[in-house]
Amino acid sequence: MADMPTDFWAGWIMVLTIVSLMGFVWLVYSIYFLANKQKQEESPIWDETLSEDAHPAPMWWFWLTLIALVLTVVYLILYPGLGSFSGTLKWSQHGRLDHSMSHYQKSFSPKRNYVLNRTISELQANHVIMESAQRIFEQNCAACHGVNGKGQASMFPNLKDSDWQWGSSEEAIWQSIKHGRRAIMVGWKDAIGDEGVSEVINYVKALSSNDHTNDQGKEIFQQNCAACHGLQGEGNPVLGAPNLTDDIWLYGDSDDALIQTIAYGREGVMPSFDKRLDEIQIRMLTALLMPVVEQ
Ligand code: HEC
Ligand code: HEC
Repeated sequence: MADMPTDFWAGWIMVLTIVSLMGFVWLVYSIYFLANKQKQEESPIWDETLSEDAHPAPMWWFWLTLIALVLTVVYLILYPGLGSFSGTLKWSQHGRLDHSMSHYQKSFSPKRNYVLNRTISELQANHVIMESAQRIFEQNCAACHGVNGKGQASMFPNLKDSDWQWGSSEEAIWQSIKHGRRAIMVGWKDAIGDEGVSEVINYVKALSSNDHTNDQGKEIFQQNCAACHGLQGEGNPVLGAPNLTDDIWLYGDSDDALIQTIAYGREGVMPSFDKRLDEIQIRMLTALLMPVVEQ
């Protein structure tokens, strides 16, 4: 079968379709216009008027059948259906898809180009764009960051404050959304012991409250923590190491939270949206989240 040319099968289907249509026409015609006469002559009469006549369905049935037949023929002329004949309208599923794609491109490409070619501050000034960005945010980000982006559960950072773990530049925010982030802070319990942990907690608290009189734990901090958090605790966006001097906390500044963070470590994961959002959507979100850029 595989080596039969496809034309052969197409031709075969055409012949089958046409022959069965003609057979159907003949059947209907014979029921209504031939059967009556022949049968009436031959049919025996059993009891006065009781005979075995062929009684065709009422005439409205005939007209319905005729209309259906005409529609079938018209359909087969206009649309693909008869073997490989593609129909005079040249309709095809691919054609329809291409048509809707080009329609989509035509109506959306100005918008796409607008988003891609404008500066962030121009996008931020455009209310329509910012409203759709907010909708994208609510659908994709609010589950973790909260509807208003202010973070929640001491697990998901506030995106509306001035504190950016990974940086607040256009590239940094774009990177956070597109490729995600994985923050790694190992636990320090084994390295510095419980005593060390509680000393360095005091120093971290002093840093955040700008209390420069308290030097307890400073040495531990500079030896173990400064490599990531900076000598003054100012943080390092390249590593996602938060600024510890600003009293803005992701995991909280209660003793329990700080013990958990410093003794056992933290590993915050921001998922990558590379596959779920396109370039336009990511750029719109970047504009939504970035601190307002002066024009
Ligand atoms: C290898 C780099 C690295 C080192 C070394 C390091 N940290 Fe961190 N630290 C991080 C990162 C990254 C985070 C963010 C973790 C997250 O977002 O899940 C963090 C988070 C924290 C937080 C939580 C801040 C908040 O907003 O809740 C505290 C507190 C902290 N570190 C203190 C310390 C102390 C004290 C030390 C030294 C004992 C230290 N870190 C050493 C990378 C480091
Ligand atoms: C599954 C939960 C989750 C979802 C969904 C999520 N995020 Fe995050 N996001 C996080 C976590 C957790 C962090 C913090 C990672 C860390 O500890 O550094 C984060 C960090 C970020 C940061 C970096 C913040 C900083 O201070 O540098 C940005 C920007 C961000 N998210 C934007 C978004 C946007 C935009 C979306 C929606 C497209 C989104 N996130 C969806 C969990 C999520």
